[in-house]
Amino acid sequence: MFVKQATQTARENTWDKKVSPFPAFDQLKSSRSTYQQKSPDTNAQPSKLDKIIVRGGQELNGVIPISGAKNAALKLMCAALLTDEPVYFENAPNMLRDIQSQTDLMTHLGCHIRRERDLMAINAGPVHSQTAPYDLVRKMRTSILVLGPLLARFGQAKVSLPGGCAIGTRPVDLHLKALEELGAQIKLENGYIDAKTPQGGLQGAKILFPKVSVGATENLLMAATLAKGTTVLANAAKEPEIVDLGECLIKMGAKITGLGTETITIEGVPELKGTTHSILPDRIEAGTYIIAAGMTGGTLKLQNARIEHLSAAMGLLSQAGIEVEQSDQDIIVHREIGRILGVDIMTEPYPGFPTDLQAQFMAMLSLCQGAGMITETIFENRFMHVPELCRMGADITVQGNSAIVRGVESLKGAEVMATDLRASVALVLAGLVAEGETTINRIYHLERGYEDIVGKLSACGADIRKA
Ligand code: UD1
Repeated sequence: MFVKQATQTARENTWDKKVSPFPAFDQLKSSRSTYQQKSPDTNAQPSKLDKIIVRGGQELNGVIPISGAKNAALKLMCAALLTDEPVYFENAPNMLRDIQSQTDLMTHLGCHIRRERDLMAINAGPVHSQTAPYDLVRKMRTSILVLGPLLARFGQAKVSLPGGCAIGTRPVDLHLKALEELGAQIKLENGYIDAKTPQGGLQGAKILFPKVSVGATENLLMAATLAKGTTVLANAAKEPEIVDLGECLIKMGAKITGLGTETITIEGVPELKGTTHSILPDRIEAGTYIIAAGMTGGTLKLQNARIEHLSAAMGLLSQAGIEVEQSDQDIIVHREIGRILGVDIMTEPYPGFPTDLQAQFMAMLSLCQGAGMITETIFENRFMHVPELCRMGADITVQGNSAIVRGVESLKGAEVMATDLRASVALVLAGLVAEGETTINRIYHLERGYEDIVGKLSACGADIRKA
């Protein structure tokens, strides 16, 4: 560990003066025909306006480019910590607040990061700190994902306990226990996770997760790439974003098999190298716009989106009366105006119905013919959108982790409050079909996960603006 740090410091001293941190950036930029066509200035900071005003009643028709997946991009950024060579990402959702927060954190650790439109490059060669402080971590739970890579590469890491969406207690015990099984010594002190590896670094082990966790699977997947020997992750999560992370790690030189199944095997290697990776499309963003068109009626072409990543939702959308099909790289969604049918959904780990589409589905069901039941099995307290939807006229009753949604004829515009990322977008969807004007306050959460939602929806006919 100390040898590595000393080498690091020596490299850092000469690095800024002589070598570009991203020798391949400009070449990558000019080699991509789509580069200039992507959404406008994706390097722009989110605006200071904190309300969205929607006037309901417009059909949605047109084309929406789907961004790279936030939940993959954040972990891929962490993976770049595993090497001292530059890693380049295409299709990066650079406009998102969460990407900015992760950039701030990694820059604090010493990384050099360049972002332009949908390209991102990270050089973690000059990392000089292994401490992720409270101020940078509190906004975003995913910061915990720097723990595994820092520990694996430097032998130590100190990470503040995370914040993030207010959807339940969301502990990190699975991450910590599994890292301990790789030999990490972990103390919790003053709100920080203080972790060290034993002499000789992390050791491969067989880890059986008692519960499926996306984040814990990813943290361990990354840590195990540099551990000595073989690690087996049993009862691992199978999300497409994990497969994307694993594929990038393989390009970086990691030895991984079983991605997308419940058993992932990792043969540790001494070091990883830089690579270029194109981030998979955001299935939750695509699912959100499918539901939007299902609610307003009309035809949307969602560019660069994959229906196979939404298979559990597809059957339910079809039962509800919404037509969705894949056409080359795009998803086409079509809906004649009219009421959708009530369906029941239950959230589950992938490939089940995603909890991240639950709030949007509820907004849609609030206008269904009949009723639908929604059961949330992943997060407690993920019904915070219910009172806000009810203020708009929805008829929803919550009992434990289930909600009965009785369809109403219409929703009415109201002033509502965004509480977490997916709850916020559910209110935007409700606003698109409500009578009159809906004002959504505190859109901070929305900007964490949806790139240019106002621009994308208004280009398809929605009457929506920031204020
Ligand atoms: C990720 C996604 C989030 C999605 C969720 C479930 C990112 C940035 N976020 O969150 O959008 O809603 O997967 O698909 O990718 N748990 C524990 N102990 C732990 C870790 C988790 O008890 O150490 C529990 C959680 O409280 C939750 C369940 O396990 O009840 C699943 O959480 P997990 O899959 O870890 O979600 P995240 O990775 O935080």
